[in-house]
Amino acid sequence: MCGIVGYIGPADSVPILVDGLTRLEYRGYDSAGVAVLQDSRLEIRRHTGRLSNLEASMQQAPLTGSVGIGHTRWATHGAPSEKNAHPHTDSTGRIAVVHNGIIENYQALRNELAARGHRFLSETDTEVIPHLIEDELAAGAASMLEAIRRALARTRGAYALGIVSLDEPETLYAARLGSPLIAGVGDGELYIASDVPAILNRTRQVVYLGDGQIATLRREGLELVDMAGKPVAAEVQTVELEAEAAERAGFETFMLKEIHEQPRVLRTLLNLHLGNGQQDTPEILGFDADYWRSLRRIMAISCGTAYHAAMYGRLLLEGLTGLAVETDLGSEFRYSNRKIDPATLVLAVSQSGETADTLASVRMAHERGCRLLSICNVAGSSLVRESDHVLYTHAGPEIGVASTKAYTAQLMALALLALAVGRVRGDIAPELADEMISDLRAVPDAIHYVLNRAEIIREIAEKHHDGPSSLYLGRRYNFPTALEGALKNKEISYQHAEAYAAGEMKHGPIALINEYLPVICICTRTRDEVYEKTISNVREVEARGGRIIAIATDGDTEVADIAEDTIYVPQTRDEFSPMVNVVALQLLAYYAAQARGTDIDKPRNLAKSVTVE
Ligand code: G6P
Repeated sequence: MCGIVGYIGPADSVPILVDGLTRLEYRGYDSAGVAVLQDSRLEIRRHTGRLSNLEASMQQAPLTGSVGIGHTRWATHGAPSEKNAHPHTDSTGRIAVVHNGIIENYQALRNELAARGHRFLSETDTEVIPHLIEDELAAGAASMLEAIRRALARTRGAYALGIVSLDEPETLYAARLGSPLIAGVGDGELYIASDVPAILNRTRQVVYLGDGQIATLRREGLELVDMAGKPVAAEVQTVELEAEAAERAGFETFMLKEIHEQPRVLRTLLNLHLGNGQQDTPEILGFDADYWRSLRRIMAISCGTAYHAAMYGRLLLEGLTGLAVETDLGSEFRYSNRKIDPATLVLAVSQSGETADTLASVRMAHERGCRLLSICNVAGSSLVRESDHVLYTHAGPEIGVASTKAYTAQLMALALLALAVGRVRGDIAPELADEMISDLRAVPDAIHYVLNRAEIIREIAEKHHDGPSSLYLGRRYNFPTALEGALKNKEISYQHAEAYAAGEMKHGPIALINEYLPVICICTRTRDEVYEKTISNVREVEARGGRIIAIATDGDTEVADIAEDTIYVPQTRDEFSPMVNVVALQLLAYYAAQARGTDIDKPRNLAKSVTVE
C-alpha cells in the first residue's frame, strides 16, 4: 500500500527520501513523488510507475533541500497518473502533503472548498487536506500546527500524513489516525516513515505516533500534541531489528530469501516458547488459566494468507481443546450480524497488524466486551496496541508481497497455542502433548529438507508453468494448505488457480479436469485417517486424464505411481504437515512465476498491507 518518508536535518533530503521509498517499494505502488523545500521554493516531482521513473525525472530537473517528504501511491481515489500522485498542494502552492489512508468525507469537503474558490487539480481525496489547511490559515489559525489540527478535525476517515510548508521552512509535520506512522530520531536530524524498514539504515530510535496525534519535527527534536492541542510525551523506543533483516542477503528476491528463512524462524519460535523443556504456557496463553478453562468459544478474524492460517488454527484448536472455534474474514465479519459477546475470545491473525478490515472487526468485537488475542508480526502496529495479549510470530520484516515466512510462523504460533490451551484446560493428555511437542520440534528440519529439493521443484514448475489454470486439492489440515498454495500461485505467477477440499471436487470442479489441467494434490500421511480418501480423490483426477502433481511423503510409491510428478517431503505428523507442505507449494509458485517472468517481489496490483477498506 502507499508509503511515506520524510526528512529534516542538515543533509540533502532527496537521496534520503528516494532511498527510504525504495525500501518501501515492497508494499506495492503505482506512482511516486517528492516535495522539497528549496531556497524559499516548494519543489515537487511526481511520476507514474516505478521509482526509477521519478529518479530519471529528477536527474533532468535536479532538486535539493534539507526538508522534504516523499510518497509511493497505490491508487484508491483516481487512476494512477502524475496528477493524482502525491504530494498534493494547496491553491497557493505553499503547502505540500503526502497521505496514506482515506478521507471519507472528501467529496463534501471538496464541494464546500470549491464553492469558496479552491481549485482542485487531482481526483484524489488527499488533495482536500492542503486546501483545508490553507482554509484554516485564511480563517485566522495562529500557526501551521493550529491550522493542521483544525483542518483534520473537519475530516472523517484514516490518515498518516507528512506536511511541509513554505511558511515554516524549518519544520516537518506529521499526523496519524488509523494508518501507521513513525518518527525516527537521529543526531540533529529526524525522519518520518509509514514503516520501520524505510529508515532502519539511518536510525533505530523511533517514536510510534498514536492515533489522533500530530508531531512537529524540527532539527532540535520532536513534539507531540493530541487533537485537542494538548502536549503528549513522546516515547522513544529502540527498534531491535538489524538493518540487514531488510536486505536480500545474496538471494535473487526477497521472497526466495524469506522462503529460505523459514526453518530459522520456526526454530526461534520453538526455542522461545519451549526452550529445552516442554511448554512455557503462561507467556503463550496471555490470560490466566481460569479464563481458558471457562472459555467456550473463539472467533478468529483475519484476511488473505492470515485467513488460511486461521483456518488451520481452528482445526488444531478444535482438535486439541474442547473449544468451539469459528473463522471469519475481516471484510465479512465487520458487516455481519455474527453473535459475539464478552464470553467470546477474539483471535486476530495478521502479519502487519495494519489490515483495515481486520482492525475494524476487532474494534467492533472489543466494543462488545470481547477480549482480544492477536497473532502478529509487527511490534508497535495498530493491532498490537489494541490487543489484550499478543503472540508475536518473530518472523522479522517480510518484504516480499506474497507472504511466506509470516504464514508458517503463524501456523507454528497457532500450534503452540493450541497445545498450551489443550494442556491448561486438561483437554489433552500430557503424554500426547509431549509426543506432539517432540513432533513439532522436527518441523524446521523437515522444511530444510524441502528447501534442499528446490531444484526438483523448479523442474516441475517449469514443465507446468504455461497453462492458463491449475487446481489445488487437500483435505483436513491441508485444505488451508491447498488454498494457500493456490493463492501463492495467483499472486506471483498471475496464473488462475483454484483450491478445493479434495472431497468436494466431485461437486463441480471435476468438470474442469482434462489432459491439460495441472492438479496439485496434497496427499502426505503419517496416520492420517483421510489419506485413503484423498488417494481416492486423486484417482478420480487420474481417471479423467488430469495431470497430477503430488506432494507425497517420502517413500510413498502408491502416490508416485498415479502422479505425473511427485514432490517428496519428509514424514511429518499430520497436524503439523501444513508447515512443511506449504513450503513445497511456495517454491512451486515461485519457480512458475520466475518462468513466467513476473516481478515476484512486487506483483502487479497487490499491496503488502491493505490499510484501506
Ligand atoms: C495483503 C497481503 C497478503 C496478506 C493480507 C493480510 O493482501 O498482500 O499477503 O495476507 O494483506 O495481511 P495481514 O498483514 O493482516 O496478515
